[in-house]
Amino acid sequence: MSTNQNRIEEFDAVDLIHAKRDRGELSTPQIDWLIDAYTRGYVGDEQMAAMTMAIFLNGMNRREIKDLTMAMLNSGERMSFAGLGKPTTDKHSTGGVGDKITLPLMPLVAVFGAAVPQLSGRGLGHTGGTLDKLEAIPGWRAHLTNEEMFAQLQEFGGVICAAGGGLAPADGKLYALRDITGTVEAIPLIASSIMSKKIAEGTGALVLDVKFGSGAFLKDIERSRELARTMVALGEDAGVATSALLTNMNVPLGFAIGNANEVRESVEVLAGGGPKDVVELTVALAQEMLALVGITDVDVESALTDGRAMDKWRDVIRAQGGDPDAPLPVARETHVVTAERDGVLVEQQALPFGIGAWRLGAGRARKQDPVQHAAGIDLHAKPGDTVRAGQPLFTLSADEPERFARALEAVEGAYRIGDPGEPVLDGGPLIAERIGR
Ligand code: URA
Repeated sequence: MSTNQNRIEEFDAVDLIHAKRDRGELSTPQIDWLIDAYTRGYVGDEQMAAMTMAIFLNGMNRREIKDLTMAMLNSGERMSFAGLGKPTTDKHSTGGVGDKITLPLMPLVAVFGAAVPQLSGRGLGHTGGTLDKLEAIPGWRAHLTNEEMFAQLQEFGGVICAAGGGLAPADGKLYALRDITGTVEAIPLIASSIMSKKIAEGTGALVLDVKFGSGAFLKDIERSRELARTMVALGEDAGVATSALLTNMNVPLGFAIGNANEVRESVEVLAGGGPKDVVELTVALAQEMLALVGITDVDVESALTDGRAMDKWRDVIRAQGGDPDAPLPVARETHVVTAERDGVLVEQQALPFGIGAWRLGAGRARKQDPVQHAAGIDLHAKPGDTVRAGQPLFTLSADEPERFARALEAVEGAYRIGDPGEPVLDGGPLIAERIGR
């Protein structure tokens, strides 16, 4: 990035790092300058790494977090759907194992006359990315121009596509730095990162699915609650009607963890079936997204059972070049793990199963790596289910059988068959709390 040699800089990065290191507060002009100077390359990665670690250790107050969010938002373009003639409402999940909810949710909400401009990303590490999942559908295209996106929202009311590099570019740079400096899990940095992108996307309303539990970014519900409250306040301050659901990520969502298998499971939900937890969360988030734009008197579940959500899905998949009837990719090899005894499945930890699917090829270790769309894990039982010795518990799928050993290592000790009556370790209800007006 070019820097102007003659420019007189307003601040010195070292002074700001000292201030945050010593638990001081950064002013609005200091934060604006820091993000601008980092985006244009004047402040280097080594200085920003020190700053993010100081923020990680010492935190930021609400005013600083808001300034950071606005500075990142102002580093790029801000989209507007004002001319669309329909309210816009979106959802963002902080990421979890088997979290395919965006797929059935987008068409379901669009059925009721709201438009869903869902700008998504790819997965890194054990949490999958929505674009990776949809790219399992033959022909489906993630990259749309702003004009194509607008036209699709106008005609069908829903789009899921890649977020362009023009939205909050400061976040792209900062997130990559945080990823390699151990500074991802800081609430001020997560909140500003997510909200700068979502506000830039131009949605009028936003529902945040903030996960807690073993498979989530933030494990304890208290920290997830703080993140949710921080993000809801940031959204409201920026004029976006925002609420959050705190949801349980101790156990994988649904039965499918991967890409093609998650599309398959989403289509089952759109056909009026699918796993109970996926349906429950999809319906709750749809009701919340619609309520934020004033659409309350509707029977959301009926659109799953009467085919309207499925028709919408088929329309939007076709609009992006996908063939909703084409067979999804199937892995060359499978490995089935069976129950070693009769009993009740009392534990199934989300994180190890996410890591297992990743090691099978469903996720990527580096940004530039491809994913294997057919790789992943299909669960055959969920916590609380009675199982019999020899019954399949889960199936691993991969193109290369050499991947099975490392995936099996990841899930070792992550599931347990107990005796009837033993407590089931699922972390409690799926939807723990709502935060918002
Ligand atoms: N997702 C983001 O976009 N940013 C974060 O910091 C964490 C999750």
